[in-house]
Amino acid sequence: MIDDVRDLSVVEKKKILARKRFFKCLGQCIAGIVIATCACALFGLFMASDFLAAFKPSAVYKTVGLFVTAFWINALLFAGVYRFAGKDGKPVRDYWLCTIIAVITYIVSMVSSKMLNVFAMPLTLSTLVIIELIGRRSATLTTALVAILVIFTYVFSGGSYDISLVVAAAICNGLTALVVNFFVHKHYNRLKFLLMALFSPLIVQPIVVAVTLALGDVSINMFWHFVWSYGSAVAAALLFMPLVAMFEGIFNIADDFRLSELCNLSNPLLKRLASEAPGTFNHSLVVGNLAEACASAIGENPNMARCAAYYHDIGKLKAPLYFSENQSSYNPHDELIPEVSVSMITSHTLFGEILARQNKLPSEIVDICRQHHGTAPVGYFYRKALSLREDGELAVNKYTYAGPKPQTKIAAIIMVADTIEAAMRAFTPDTREEYVNRINKLVDEKVELRQFDECPITMGDIAVIKTTIIEVLPSIHHRRVDYDKRKKD
Ligand SMILES: [Fe+2]
Ligand SMILES: [Fe+2]
Repeated sequence: MIDDVRDLSVVEKKKILARKRFFKCLGQCIAGIVIATCACALFGLFMASDFLAAFKPSAVYKTVGLFVTAFWINALLFAGVYRFAGKDGKPVRDYWLCTIIAVITYIVSMVSSKMLNVFAMPLTLSTLVIIELIGRRSATLTTALVAILVIFTYVFSGGSYDISLVVAAAICNGLTALVVNFFVHKHYNRLKFLLMALFSPLIVQPIVVAVTLALGDVSINMFWHFVWSYGSAVAAALLFMPLVAMFEGIFNIADDFRLSELCNLSNPLLKRLASEAPGTFNHSLVVGNLAEACASAIGENPNMARCAAYYHDIGKLKAPLYFSENQSSYNPHDELIPEVSVSMITSHTLFGEILARQNKLPSEIVDICRQHHGTAPVGYFYRKALSLREDGELAVNKYTYAGPKPQTKIAAIIMVADTIEAAMRAFTPDTREEYVNRINKLVDEKVELRQFDECPITMGDIAVIKTTIIEVLPSIHHRRVDYDKRKKD
């Protein structure tokens, strides 16, 4: 956790960790940069002119130029995607996804612009796919870099190509992607989606016509530019959904489509949780509501927070009756020594991680299954074990969760929401002050146990999370808090 109090040693430590993280990521992506550079440069040479002639001494400058440009573009793509991924993100996965899409888009753009029409480049489609899977900034960067590489390939190839038209086509494609992304929403019904996919690309078409006229190409070409530009935009609007689904599966990405599917209560794993561990299921739903509100309040993804909350305790499916929320009268811990009870309780994080992996849940949720208790002790059984000791001394480390501590802001939110939901369910405050103090104390305990040391959450975020839970929890529990006992007295 980044404390508001400046601690130089912590800042230095974070810088060293950030540097290590960058070079580790670069090591995992360097092969991609080299392969993509060679693929783009060789294909560019193949499309530009006589492939073998490009390796003769007379053409060495052009060939080296194309290789240098391709390398520069791929290195910039890595740097940009790494920067945009942020501390909580997955830069290696994002980089490989962007690179694969960029190389395919470049190859198809070169082929389609030479064989069909310069406006038939699939830049709109690739932009829409990356916006949905990663984000606008990475999509804009990838599209811009692919467009630059296409333009440079035309420049290196010489010949009679109109570079201005290639530049105009690339810009129009990018603009169309932004317009389509603005108008076509996944929440539409099918008819509205189709209508928007058909009509939103028309907004950019006047620019296509104007550019063609400005370049003095007043002929049948103008008609074909319009047809190809509009046709490729409509195809992109209709095709990006299946492509998103395909890349989601390959890269195990949790975009909003996938998260809403996973939050559907008819999902097999949630159905199993509801039937085998109904107490845990209800607890998870409440944690989901709290986590969603907290994530919105501090600018994190609320859908991810809700989804992670729904699945955070799936590890309890291994032995549901060992958890108090699923017990009615029989408590198996009455027959066990505290050491065994603790191992049964703490193992739900590890089993949750295994179950999440087996069910191919997104990696963010797999991590949260493991991290949501951090390295906190299981207080009840530690105290029980301590009471059985005659010397009154007992090391706490055998009674704690194995960790790791939360690594992301969403994992920290789940930890806080989980703790508060579980504790407040059995707590009936007499006054609002008592209710607020209890929540503050629960969160402060986690801070004192240094559970947020490894994630980028700030004290400001923690304060906002506390306030949000204080406001939201009573309405979720449907329990009226008697805020002013004094009046009653
Ligand atoms: Fe848990
Ligand atoms: Fe929980």
